[in-house]
Amino acid sequence: MSDGYDLFKKQIKQLSGINLDSYKENQMKRRLDSLLVRNKLRDYHEYISLIKGDRTKLEEFISFMTINVSEFWRNTEQWEILDKSILPGLIKGEGIKVWSAACATGDEPYSLVMLLSKYLPLSKIRVLATDIDKQILQKAKEGIYPAKSLKGLPQEFKVSFFTETSPGMFSISDEVKRCVTFREHNLLTDPYPIGCDLILCRNVLIYFTNEAKEGIYFNFNKALNKGGILFLGNTEQILYPQEYNFTLISSFFYKKQ
Ligand SMILES: C[S@@+](CC[C@H](N)C(=O)[O-])C[C@H]1O[C@@H](n2cnc3c(N)ncnc32)[C@H](O)[C@@H]1O
Repeated sequence: MSDGYDLFKKQIKQLSGINLDSYKENQMKRRLDSLLVRNKLRDYHEYISLIKGDRTKLEEFISFMTINVSEFWRNTEQWEILDKSILPGLIKGEGIKVWSAACATGDEPYSLVMLLSKYLPLSKIRVLATDIDKQILQKAKEGIYPAKSLKGLPQEFKVSFFTETSPGMFSISDEVKRCVTFREHNLLTDPYPIGCDLILCRNVLIYFTNEAKEGIYFNFNKALNKGGILFLGNTEQILYPQEYNFTLISSFFYKKQ
């Protein structure tokens, strides 16, 4: 018997534009079931009725389903490779066009700005940071983080760019904030920027079906300049990168051919 998930997906698409067909079904259902318990509801039908009548419940649904966890310098080893092996070849005199796709709370684009500040003056650094989740982008713009988000960040950056504004909470400096433009963007449906030298898309592709991922790889390839780099998360290798016009140059770093 149908559990109503197909109808639920259809209605979510109408209400929010989000196509749950592109997300792995088992993962989505697991999260959805915990939302039903949290809201004391019996089934997807009751949940959709709740969301339909209450915009904040719809936004809560999007936030919960989209999994916003992040941290500065997530997977430290990869950031070291970015610093030592990738950036020196990418940065030319006039700067570099960077996109942090699915940026969540902003830890990733702000990490990038701090790292780039080793190579360029802050006045020359611009990072585009996008996410599907409006609420999380608001949080990212505020730029206030608990100590645990900063645990992997090199001390020099913590000292230079953060202030402890209340016990255990750290605000990122305005000069770093000014380098990032936050924008709402759905990787599955919205047009991609062009002319990028570096794209980070980490810890979101794991939620998508293979078909959805293939489309995204092609779109990233188009968004990059020749020789540009795509930096993926630690569990998100592209199996046959050449099929998407990429070459693997180091684990999780792909160069546009
Ligand atoms: C786990 S976070 C990743 C944050 C950061 N990139 C990192 O690696 O720490 C996943 C993010 O993907 C976003 N997301 C999910 N589906 C998306 C979509 N279709 N388009 C854009 N962002 C999406 C979520 O809102 C969430 O903020």
